[in-house]
Amino acid sequence: MVNISNNLTKLRVPQIKTFLPGPKAQALIKRDDAVASPSYTRGSPLVATRAEGCMVEDVDGNVFLDLTAGIAVTATGHCHPQVIEAIQNQAANLVHISGTDFYYEPMVKLAENLAKRAPFPESIDGLRARVCFTNSGAESVEGALKLARYYTKRSRIIAFQGAFHGRTYGAMSLTGSKIVQRQGFGPLVPDVTHIPYGTLASLDYLEDKLFASVLPPDEVAAIVVEAIQGEGGYIVPEDGFLERIREICSRYGILMIVDEVQSGMGRTGKLFAIEHWGVMPDIITLAKGIASGLPLGAVLSRPELMTWPPGSHAATFGGNPVACAAANVTLELLEKELIDNAHQMGKVLQAGLTELSQKFEQVSLPRGKGLMVAIDVFDADGNLDPNLRNRIVDKAFYQGLLLLSCGKAAIRFCPPLIIDRDQIQVALQILTELFEAK
Ligand SMILES: Cc1ncc(COP(=O)(O)O)c(C=O)c1O
Repeated sequence: MVNISNNLTKLRVPQIKTFLPGPKAQALIKRDDAVASPSYTRGSPLVATRAEGCMVEDVDGNVFLDLTAGIAVTATGHCHPQVIEAIQNQAANLVHISGTDFYYEPMVKLAENLAKRAPFPESIDGLRARVCFTNSGAESVEGALKLARYYTKRSRIIAFQGAFHGRTYGAMSLTGSKIVQRQGFGPLVPDVTHIPYGTLASLDYLEDKLFASVLPPDEVAAIVVEAIQGEGGYIVPEDGFLERIREICSRYGILMIVDEVQSGMGRTGKLFAIEHWGVMPDIITLAKGIASGLPLGAVLSRPELMTWPPGSHAATFGGNPVACAAANVTLELLEKELIDNAHQMGKVLQAGLTELSQKFEQVSLPRGKGLMVAIDVFDADGNLDPNLRNRIVDKAFYQGLLLLSCGKAAIRFCPPLIIDRDQIQVALQILTELFEAK
């Protein structure tokens, strides 16, 4: 067994020992430049070599405080010892056999775990969902789309401006976030209509205008919605928005698909973000945080919806044993303490960001739930300022703080759910100094 403790967690503050990127990082970035697809958006020149908890070490021995969790993925923190133990044990016994053709316990156990907790109506056996495993968020969205079309025998889909659902064809056709994600790739999947996100006015427009003139509701298979819009800016919808989508779906026999790829798995202080609104969707898509960093996704549906026959949908690697073993432990850790920590630390983070916003007029009040939080950055005239936002995220990196952007001019905070008070204070201190110096 590999020794998994590298003592990075003992460090409370970033430690930058070289210029950045350091010599070894520069050499690796040069090699990468020669061979990697230029479609990757590398924001910061971090060349990671190991990580533990919320701390990440680069190849030159610099240590960073990570408020990105690898894009909202490492829910239990980097290399949580129990997750690593589960991965090692599973890898030593069975790495792959393909759950599409054979059976193994970790996949059944994970499906049961998710089916017990899905926010769908309770059934007599306590299992509220059927589960189809995938390898990524986009693939979960593809599965959900196919299921909705197959079950309803309808073709049209409604999605939202600003949405991000992934980059494969079906998922990309729903994505409405940045033009670069669609431009040049047409024709996309037809029959997708985008409407503005998050407001009741948008749903009035859907019902009163679109349904009455160009979009027959009985041809709509699904409305696909993020419970909190992620890449689009960590936007929490207006009160009543998700409830109203549920009503519309029920009225017209449309399926409500909630994409919880980013907002799910405890990040918002509930296992599924949709639980904040007490709304029961028909289908949920998951990935990112589900297996603490191993590639895994899932489509959860009300049991009666999964009527598709053998062979109609599956993936060779979907529900891989090692990924499922990591996910089962991840769920245990989330439920034991990390969902609660996300809720508590989310309050600490929002309180600190509120102070930041009171100190600097370039900073908006924070928004979000749990540890899915963002602030907008403004210029002197009060307009959203993507350039200043980019400069702050960039300079934070040079101070050893890893951040991501989202939306037009937002900084997002999606740390591992094990983050503690001190680490949040360190991040806030660095941000304060950067806004003072800007
Ligand atoms: C809400 C949402 N759905 C789907 C995806 C796509 O996930 P993946 O990159 O794993 O394909 C993302 C990724 O950011 C996402 O935030």
